[in-house]
Amino acid sequence: MCVVGDIMALFKRKKKQSIVNENIVLPNHIGIIMDGNGRWAKKRGLPRVAGHTVGASTFKKIASYANKIGIKYMTTYAFSTENWKRSPQEVEGIMNLLRDYLKDAKNYKEENIKTLFIGDRSVLAPDIQELMQEVEETSKDATGMVLNIAVNYGGRADVVRAVQMIADKVKCGEVSPEEITEDMISDSLYTTGQDEPDLIIRPSGEYRLSNFLIWQCAYAEFWFSDILWPDFTTDDLDAAIADYAKRNRRFGDAK
Ligand code: FPP
Repeated sequence: MCVVGDIMALFKRKKKQSIVNENIVLPNHIGIIMDGNGRWAKKRGLPRVAGHTVGASTFKKIASYANKIGIKYMTTYAFSTENWKRSPQEVEGIMNLLRDYLKDAKNYKEENIKTLFIGDRSVLAPDIQELMQEVEETSKDATGMVLNIAVNYGGRADVVRAVQMIADKVKCGEVSPEEITEDMISDSLYTTGQDEPDLIIRPSGEYRLSNFLIWQCAYAEFWFSDILWPDFTTDDLDAAIADYAKRNRRFGDAK
């Protein structure tokens, strides 16, 4: 029994190493739409927040694993500009999970992950805003993965904010309308300075982008699966990456 266990552990360890060691082309930036928490809870007769709670723990495992295998950027969709339409109890539940995660930040400092929050945080509870700032500050010199956590984030709002920033520059004569470029817009988004997403993962059987990184995803590859986010494992991330590595990315070229 013990030997079988050891062999299984070895097999698992070997499998884990394969994604990193097989000279596989890793995506620089992975975006994840953490979908299916509500359905996961419903299937078990639990309140929706129970799905988000397990989803938050999946999020931590996946972020930690992605950092370990050398992913440079990961963006996770934790709360969209549209999610305010949910019941006050559910919104509060998600905010409480975020709060707990932020308070725990000292525990993942050793992971060497640089954490950033994208989205309009100005309407969030003041203590959450403070904690976000603290986490960004304490992780700013980390040299591992950059982890963007999208909170009150919307792709369209991201573009509107960028356009407003550029319009301000036009207004004060710093740039003329003809000088506005795609790069200038990219540089004015929350993800400024980062590589664009190469791979977007959406579990739970839905096939849409839901206002996630709409500008940045112009050439992203997509990976969909029926797995509900709380059940998503590092093996699933490996599978998504392995599938991505087989894609022929042409960026509009004819090759
Ligand atoms: C979508 O599933 C999920 C969300 C709107 C919230 C995601 C939040 C977390 C995973 C927790 C965030 C916490 C931290 C620490 C970042 P859904 O509720 O729409 O699921 P459904 O489509 O099955 O109803």
